[in-house]
Amino acid sequence: MSTAMSAGSAESVAFPAQDDWWRDAVVYQIYPRSFADANGDGEGDIAGVIGKLDYLRELGVDAIWLSPFYPSPLADGGYDVADYRAIDPRFGTMEQFDELVARARELGIKVVIDIVPNHTSDQHEWFRAALASAPGSPERARYVFHRGKGEHGELPPTNWLSNFGGSAWEPCGDGWYYLHTFAKEQPDLNWDNPEVHEEFLGILRFWCGKGVDGFRIDVSHGLAKDLREPLRDRPDPTKQYPQAADGSDPMWDRDAVHDIYREWRELFNQYKPAKYAIGESWTPFNERVFQYAKQDELGAIFDFSLEKADWDRDAYRASIERTWKYAKTAETAPTWVLGNHDVPRIASRLGVPTGTDIETWVTSNGTNPPIDPASAARRARAAALVMLGLPGTAFIYQGEELGLPEDFDLLPEELQDPIWERRKHAFKGRDGCRVPLPWTGEKDKAFGFNDSGRAWLPQPDWFADYAESGQEGQDDSTLNLYRQAVAIRKRMVKHGADIDLEWLPDDVCGPDGFGWTLPSGMTVLTNFSSTRSIALPEHAAVLLESRCSGTVDRVLPETTVWYRRV
Ligand code: GLC
Repeated sequence: MSTAMSAGSAESVAFPAQDDWWRDAVVYQIYPRSFADANGDGEGDIAGVIGKLDYLRELGVDAIWLSPFYPSPLADGGYDVADYRAIDPRFGTMEQFDELVARARELGIKVVIDIVPNHTSDQHEWFRAALASAPGSPERARYVFHRGKGEHGELPPTNWLSNFGGSAWEPCGDGWYYLHTFAKEQPDLNWDNPEVHEEFLGILRFWCGKGVDGFRIDVSHGLAKDLREPLRDRPDPTKQYPQAADGSDPMWDRDAVHDIYREWRELFNQYKPAKYAIGESWTPFNERVFQYAKQDELGAIFDFSLEKADWDRDAYRASIERTWKYAKTAETAPTWVLGNHDVPRIASRLGVPTGTDIETWVTSNGTNPPIDPASAARRARAAALVMLGLPGTAFIYQGEELGLPEDFDLLPEELQDPIWERRKHAFKGRDGCRVPLPWTGEKDKAFGFNDSGRAWLPQPDWFADYAESGQEGQDDSTLNLYRQAVAIRKRMVKHGADIDLEWLPDDVCGPDGFGWTLPSGMTVLTNFSSTRSIALPEHAAVLLESRCSGTVDRVLPETTVWYRRV
């Protein structure tokens, strides 16, 4: 149900074209807890980010996106927010946040922050008040409470499951339940309630006033639930995404969610430049995903197709073509993602054969199936030049630029992701990509993460091999590859509403390769074979090669080359 607050009836306002700095941007994702720890408490912090701004400028990124830093019991790594207008003391102070924004601005780096509107923490004052109040009270109406089924309410109201495992309904002990799409410490807000709309407009205004340039919207396709009575079961509750491409799923991707974003776009456009916004929506239906990116809504949306694609020429090409096509229909820029804090790191993930069940593989510590780490690393470097060679917004997850593999060494008792317990140890979860970054080879200083040697997730000894300091000045390091790629990209890879990828014919790329030529004259050519090389055309002058091998006449196996015609 949409509300009086929603902008459904209001005239919609499109994203102002002149403010679209993000269309070709490289955005670097920082997971603050694991990036850099200035105070040595074992958790990264804002002062740590400030200390690395020069590093980020050298990498050449246009913007940083900070995962949540709000006060939080960290039941889900900060995606359980207890206060949306403050900084968790573990991560720093509001003064430090202001300093971060100011310094980033001086360096020409935009700041995007994470907004979590689907749920709060169970420690949020609203939820505490709700639990202390009677069923039917205004306090409970901010969340999704429902009477249980059965004579005494002993059964959950519907078959809806939590994304993290188990029922999505938690009993309150009085015959009532509350909805939590994720952990039970993350109660879902009721977006049918105008008060929730007002509150989030206020939160967004607060951070706009702090000078942030944009927002990443967590679980953007989940906010609007179908709460009409009687509540409906889902046909297959085990599917953690919408089951039909028609908005009929009671939990996911409902049409009413778009009213919210039209309302937000109106607010964002009141600023000069207008605020950027990008939604996170894991759904299999590209045509619906891109509705969030319409210019009178969020304006941009993550498309995770590339991250999900196996190392296979046809899979890569199909995923790029789909993203490209649907981005055009929404008049937005395509988005390209190889990793984030929710998925295994690309430098390992690309080692698995097509069709591998990723959860089984992660839970087997990367042994079922086993991977060849060297091949996975080569493929990840080649994939980086695919991503950075595509016009659109490219996202780098912290550590990707170091070629950091997934950490499979975490022991069961070290795991922090709520998924591990909620899924009853059937899925190891996402901690393997969240281990604090290695900046130096000094083990007693948590590999340069801090000076104290503490780390909220233990770092394996082999992190030393990937440390930033060891890659500095190394021509063939992954870090150097990323720096060069981002620099060349600024000149050669431009987006434009009228640009089309000119795919290379098979006689140039052969059966193992694919690629495209951009209006700048730069060609991207990737070789997916593990054994055969592809000859480069005679006129090709190599600009960059993902292996940094110095080869100029061929594309080696598992390699991407950028070249131009001479
Ligand atoms: C998003 C976040 C993920 C979090 C979930 C619940 O998917 O990226 O880390 O667990 O939302 O907030």
